[in-house]
Amino acid sequence: MEPRCPYTHTLDTLGTDLHGEAAHLRTHGPAARVELPGRVPAWSVTRADVARSLLADPRLAKNARRHWPDWIEGRVGPDWPLASWVAVESMFTSDGADHHRLRTLTAPSFGPRRVEALRPRVRAIVTALLDGLRATAPGETVDLHTRLSYPLPTTLICDLFGVPEEQRPEVRRVVDGVLATDATPEHAKGVLDDLFAAMARLAATKRAEPGDDMTSELLATRDAEGSRLSEHELISTLILMIGAGSETAVNLIDHAVALLLSHPRQLALIRSGGATWRDAVEETLRLEAPVMHLPLYFAAEDIDLGESVVIRAGEPVIFDFGAPGRDPGLHPDRPEEFDLTRPDKTHLAFGHGRHYCLGAALGTMEAEEALSALFDAFPGAELAVRRDELLPQESFIVNALRSLPVRLVPAAG
Ligand code: HEM
Repeated sequence: MEPRCPYTHTLDTLGTDLHGEAAHLRTHGPAARVELPGRVPAWSVTRADVARSLLADPRLAKNARRHWPDWIEGRVGPDWPLASWVAVESMFTSDGADHHRLRTLTAPSFGPRRVEALRPRVRAIVTALLDGLRATAPGETVDLHTRLSYPLPTTLICDLFGVPEEQRPEVRRVVDGVLATDATPEHAKGVLDDLFAAMARLAATKRAEPGDDMTSELLATRDAEGSRLSEHELISTLILMIGAGSETAVNLIDHAVALLLSHPRQLALIRSGGATWRDAVEETLRLEAPVMHLPLYFAAEDIDLGESVVIRAGEPVIFDFGAPGRDPGLHPDRPEEFDLTRPDKTHLAFGHGRHYCLGAALGTMEAEEALSALFDAFPGAELAVRRDELLPQESFIVNALRSLPVRLVPAAG
């Protein structure tokens, strides 16, 4: 065996200090050896320049069924805690022509014009949620995570995919389950089975009674003659779209609210016209990326990164999508500071290259709408605890808060 870097860092599955861990790994070269849950070795990429070039590199693949010997030969299987991320067959886990075919099935619905057309719908959901909050006594503490940030994206994505009301609690439960990264083998297998069962039930409902929704559109494609979509791909696409639509914008809204409330001068800047809600969203994406790790890429060939780091064909690679925004190599000027006036807010929170987030425009618009309406309705809102007292969710996949306690004071009149 050739000599390898002796250093291996075990990723903290509880995500206790996501940014500190990324800063530490960044000092270990263009990629660092890490151990994923289940003792699976991988390369972690945290540097902005390396992430950008690797994410655009055709030698990096996503399909475990073709490029990951440990998965193909069964050494890692459905009871692995992260199995639900690689066992699906969607655009997220495919390459080349398959990726193109699967992405073009849903991509048109998430383009800028279609997203803009959804704005009134988003506004209506936000208005209803804020109306619910107006009933709270002035100065009372509410959990904005459960009352605004979580219900907005989850309601919208369930509406878009026509998930019937009675199936929503189960769909939310199974989608939330994917984030538990320290699951036991039994639990991991259960999460995977439950995910497929919930989406199969949704598909069966829509087959029996099609509606004006994206699940019915996908089914029409699936069931058409000369189908471009297998049943497994259909269910996997539902898991991906409903999962990605639910678990991401939530964190963006939570963090943006927390950052603005803990930086009153930045909030005042927006109110005085010196910055925009869009600036707040972009700066939040840079500083508090809503998703940190999304397993998994694989080297289809050996990739020499320089500095004596060679990723061998078949080895897994995991990107830290939150690290580039804080990389001093990209932002030499106060990278850790929340500053809406910073001229360059470049980040990789939505990824880069072929798998760039399909829902980027939607997630951004949802956050803009939530922030502007919230601060209009409750200009005197304040955090009920210090920002550094907000508890993170136990996951290294998302950068999420467990709750967001805020004291609300409605606008006069
Ligand atoms: C603010 C919120 C969001 C963030 C931070 C985010 C982040 C990301 C990232 C980092 C990727 C790249 C994954 C990779 O390279 O492996 C990605 C892909 C993806 N996202 Fe998002 N996402 C967000 C919202 C959404 C929403 C609302 C949807 C759906 C409605 C969505 C759907 C997708 C899909 C389908 C992909 C896979 C694209 C592909 O593989 O070609 N995302 N997202």
